[in-house]
Amino acid sequence: MWAQAIEDALRVVSRNIGRFGDRFPRTSTQGDRIYQLTDGSDWTEGFWTGMLWLSYEYSGDPLYRTAAISTLSNFRRRLESRLKLDHHDIGFLYSLSAKAHWIVERDEASRQLAHQAADVLMERWRETPGLLQAWGPKDDPENGGRIIIDCLMNLPLLHWAYQETGRERYRLAAERQTALSRRFLVRGDDSTYHTFYFDLTTGDSIRGGTHQGSRDGSTWTRGQAWGIYGFALAYRYMRQPELLDTTKRLARYFADRLPEDAVVYWDFDVPQTPETKRDSSAAAIAAAGMLELASLLPEGDADRKWLRKTAKTIAASLAAAYSTKDEQDAQGLLNRGSYAVRLGISPDDYVIWGDYFYLETLMRLERGVPGYWYERQ
Ligand code: GLY
Ligand code: GLY
Repeated sequence: MWAQAIEDALRVVSRNIGRFGDRFPRTSTQGDRIYQLTDGSDWTEGFWTGMLWLSYEYSGDPLYRTAAISTLSNFRRRLESRLKLDHHDIGFLYSLSAKAHWIVERDEASRQLAHQAADVLMERWRETPGLLQAWGPKDDPENGGRIIIDCLMNLPLLHWAYQETGRERYRLAAERQTALSRRFLVRGDDSTYHTFYFDLTTGDSIRGGTHQGSRDGSTWTRGQAWGIYGFALAYRYMRQPELLDTTKRLARYFADRLPEDAVVYWDFDVPQTPETKRDSSAAAIAAAGMLELASLLPEGDADRKWLRKTAKTIAASLAAAYSTKDEQDAQGLLNRGSYAVRLGISPDDYVIWGDYFYLETLMRLERGVPGYWYERQ
């Protein structure tokens, strides 16, 4: 069943190679089912390259390898010219492109590129308040002291750079960001804030808030999914038991609130009506994160079973009812992703990160291939 879903996905990916050329899909808009393309100036380009690597690893077809490699010059030029890299998503961008090339083929030039990307990400470290600034320039009054939960997925690039070089500054930044996120973004009931503000000069905590959730105190489902996966990856690198506890709690919160078909709405705190938008990408990220978490637990651990079962239930529902398998000429793999519903941005559309994590989930289930967040054993 997973193999069939992967075959269906690869048909779309291979068609898209010619369609996208040297540009990168980001989101569709207004349900038009056409991917908007970027020239390499957003936070999303790595997902397409990551899908090409996954497709190549599954099939061995050089078509995907050639396409993946041809995207790398864009990532290289971008880093050299610092084009639109004043945000923390350097981790997403370079883990799934250059670092993936290193993981799949041990390519030395790509390894160096990923090292350089980690250095650029480190430029976002602010010693006071002691955080990696998510968005905007240094000392920006709105964003200067702000963290967001999505950042947990950018930290594996720093952990990996530490393993590679032995330079403590990468590890310390990743560890401090993880601890801060755990303390301030995770609430007492195991739900999460999307973002948290700190005072730029004193470092004092100010308040939690949201950017893409329905309101400051709500739980944005994709944020919760980033948290599940991000804390699981933090545990993989750091082996601190409290991180395992956190990712399990976040996963339980998510699993306990699944709608009937297991594909979440865009926020856990919005009324569920026939018009409420889903976020199939949050579902895909959570499924991949639960599989990662399960893979970190010893055989016989009581949580392994429900985590794998929940991930499979989500993946099966995505494959059966959300995938585009029966749509001729579809550009996306998943329908009904949402970027930022409250802000009116791509509320019921293709979103390329949803497609990436859907394919990663299928690859984990079918082949045990975990994506490109860490070195394989
Ligand atoms: N990391 C950006 C998002 O999830 O929309
Ligand atoms: N990643 C959130 C935004 O770009 O608005």
